[in-house]
Amino acid sequence: VKEGYPSFMDKEIHDQPKAVADTLLGRTSPTGALVLDELRIEESVLRAVDKIIVVACGTAAYSGHVAKYAIEHWCRIPVEVELAHEFRYRDPIVNPRTLVVAISQSGETMDTLMAVRHAREQGAHVLAIVNTHGSTLPREADAVLYTHAGPEVAVASTKAFLAQITACYLLGLYLAQLRGTKFPEELRDALAELQSIPDKVAEVLSREEEVRAEARAMHEATSVLFLGRHVGYPVALEGALKLKEIAYIHAEGFAAGELKHGPIALVEPGQPVFIIVPSPRGRDVLHQKVVSNIQEVRARGARTLVIAEEGDEAVVPYADVIFRVPQTSTLLSPLVAVVPLQIFASELATAKGLDVDQPRNLAKSVTVE
Ligand code: F6R
Repeated sequence: VKEGYPSFMDKEIHDQPKAVADTLLGRTSPTGALVLDELRIEESVLRAVDKIIVVACGTAAYSGHVAKYAIEHWCRIPVEVELAHEFRYRDPIVNPRTLVVAISQSGETMDTLMAVRHAREQGAHVLAIVNTHGSTLPREADAVLYTHAGPEVAVASTKAFLAQITACYLLGLYLAQLRGTKFPEELRDALAELQSIPDKVAEVLSREEEVRAEARAMHEATSVLFLGRHVGYPVALEGALKLKEIAYIHAEGFAAGELKHGPIALVEPGQPVFIIVPSPRGRDVLHQKVVSNIQEVRARGARTLVIAEEGDEAVVPYADVIFRVPQTSTLLSPLVAVVPLQIFASELATAKGLDVDQPRNLAKSVTVE
């Protein structure tokens, strides 16, 4: 049931505060430590892990990109993120000290399943992050960390993405706790901030009409670009994917630093460009760099649509449109920053008269190779 929403996608976008909250639920002890009882991989094995490889496809792979920044920061373990179908057909370096994290909403994506088999044959330990109970992937893995997003019906993934990112943060914080790579206070603060995310997502949703109005006004766009740095980069990729999938608009996400290495040649007067801005309260350089990127595309005539934190005034002179999100540390910001992009895609597809839930040529789960 769509519960009064015009599409399942819209309903699922609105389910997101709950998807994040439910994924966090029951995973902390009264003392504030993380408990992941379901992680049936021995602690000694997890302590010895010297490399993590995330394998997944599509949106799930973008959640893995976000995980890389968080896990490397908290745990100091190198993290690679690889599309499952690429991983399978090369000769990856995997051994018993490698933790392969397979992320999937459906748990049935054939390429991801095959990647997991390949990794296990070579002795890697495999942890699955899965949304669908009773699916195949958890049976193929050594352990499973479920996301609790509830059933996702729309082909375009939304709430599963937020839940996957949340589960990845939990995994990162848990490994850091186990391996003692960060002060307990830092981990506790990060966890406390994570607990505040559902309310922040709800706040973004309460302002959805601003995004929808903009999307309707842009229903004739033929190309949209998305730029981000650091964790904003996978958010840019996801924003572009949503628009391709359901609105059939040519859309590209770029790492903002790549602009001058090629993509800036695409910018002509009127080109819409979304820019995902990191928190100005975090690392100054990162924020400044993104602000200069907005300036660069604006100087070439781009129409800049900026996703920026509440109170970030530095973006104002260069933004044609600003979508505000609540203050959030950069590392956790994808959970709030991606929401306006989901709403934008959904509304633009609707304005074009398209079937938001059942885009052409796509299936909810890709069970063939
Ligand atoms: C994007 C989308 C796809 C899936 C991908 C992986 O909106 O739905 O890109 O994310 O096919 O699917 P799962 O997560 O089921 O393995």
